[in-house]
Amino acid sequence: MSSHCILERVAETESTNNDLMARWRAGELIDPIARLAQKQTAGKGRAGRAWLARPQDSLCFSLAYPFQRKPADLSGLSLLVGLAVISGISLALNHSKQELHQKGLRLKWPNDLLLNQGKLGGILIEGGQTKLGDPSWMIIGIGINLQNANAFDQALRHEQKVAALDQLLTTGEVLPDPDWIWLKIVEELEATLSNFDQTGFAQYQKLWMDWDAFQNTAVRISGAGQEVIEGVAKGVDTSGALLLASGEKMISIHAGDVSLRTSK
Ligand code: BTN
Repeated sequence: MSSHCILERVAETESTNNDLMARWRAGELIDPIARLAQKQTAGKGRAGRAWLARPQDSLCFSLAYPFQRKPADLSGLSLLVGLAVISGISLALNHSKQELHQKGLRLKWPNDLLLNQGKLGGILIEGGQTKLGDPSWMIIGIGINLQNANAFDQALRHEQKVAALDQLLTTGEVLPDPDWIWLKIVEELEATLSNFDQTGFAQYQKLWMDWDAFQNTAVRISGAGQEVIEGVAKGVDTSGALLLASGEKMISIHAGDVSLRTSK
């Protein structure tokens, strides 16, 4: 399969998400488009944070994709994007998903890629529907650390454990060209998103749980201005909401500005 969306590559921009958001707001988006930047001068992370990237060591791109579903019916999208990124990595590195799983690749709800508990990548989804009947344009921003995890670690002052894609390679293997990795991930995204648009998240629930980094782990959920909830992570429901066993209750936590940390 090859990519059907427009592919754009630029040397430098503020943020590929901002670029595509501006085009969406101006009504300029017609076909799916993936935009990669070698360098972002103001890369954005979730919850208003900055996204740290290093031009030679990072893959930073955004995909603008039109869904027929209303934004309210797109729950689980970020989880699905994580699964598609894993498929793309598997194709690009020519390693089976089972191998990647054995090496410690996981997903952290709602939208982080982890490698042995270190952050390998992040997903930032923005966009919406301008008016009823229009497609829902979602701008899916993806940042992946390719190599040199130590440099990220130092730049982040060791605040969080960082991982990089080259840590998935076996001795003697070299990382493929970043453009190749990008293309494989975009191909997988297109196929998965088109299927999701028709069927929704439910059919991916079990698959996502196979990659869940925190299944049956004691966790703490915190979000801006919300009280902290503690419990044991029990995977996700058919809508992609996180299930948390807290005392006698099972609580559903819906995607949003939530962070997940192992309880101390
Ligand atoms: C996170 O906080 O984990 C999400 C990070 C998302 C970063 C990507 S890099 C490409 C795209 N452009 C941005 O400004 N952010 C996203």
